[in-house]
Amino acid sequence: MLGDSGVGKTSLVARLTNPERPLNHDISATMGIEFDTQMLTTASGDKVKAQIWDTAGQERFARVLLPTYFRKAKGVILVYDITNAKSFESLSERWMAQLNDHASTDDLAKLLVGNKSDLEASREVTKDKAELFCQEYGMELLETSAKSGDNVLASFEKLIGMVHDKALKASKLQQQKTGIGAINSSAGGAGGGPSSTTASGSRGDSGAINLDAPGGGASQGEACGC
Ligand code: GTP
Repeated sequence: MLGDSGVGKTSLVARLTNPERPLNHDISATMGIEFDTQMLTTASGDKVKAQIWDTAGQERFARVLLPTYFRKAKGVILVYDITNAKSFESLSERWMAQLNDHASTDDLAKLLVGNKSDLEASREVTKDKAELFCQEYGMELLETSAKSGDNVLASFEKLIGMVHDKALKASKLQQQKTGIGAINSSAGGAGGGPSSTTASGSRGDSGAINLDAPGGGASQGEACGC
């Protein structure tokens, strides 16, 4: 989850993981990075255990901490607040620049999310403007409300579907090259750390796919920043 402070990243994750809990307006700013896991279903019906990294939008945390995580991320939800034009401008001025500098952008699935759609009367960013941004950077747009829950699950499922499709394609390619059924390319083999995302296929392919990129750079220790 990337985007300026206050756009609603933590609230979106909270709505996903606790759909019945009302929106917390007194929520404190994220300091550093928080983790959550959630089972999600792709459009093709596959179940994926997603590990979600909710990052701090504040510059003092983001500048130092995020580059390490970018290298291991498989997908990113770029969030802006539809009632805050500055948060939209930051996407190209700040967040896309950081991603381009630090992430392996070719492999990265990206989704643009305009949050706080319940505040239509205060809208500062038109959907047309956001669509243009999407065309420029090759991503899709969804408008969400962490308050009403509108499109929240759909956003996460969309992104995880893209990540999963990329993993399946990479796995098939690897199979063609090596004749081996499953990929498990995480450095130490042990999954479950902050840097790994696992997906179980239900398409008759061979079991679990670990989405850690081959030679993906950071070890688990590095990715934790510890
Ligand atoms: P950082 O942790 O500082 O990066 O901020 P954040 O992007 O995680 O924002 P956060 O989830 O803390 O939300 C900021 C404020 O916006 C809180 O007061 C939320 O209650 C409010 N908020 C978040 N999402 C929505 C929404 O969809 N609609 C409305 N009306 N308010 C929202």
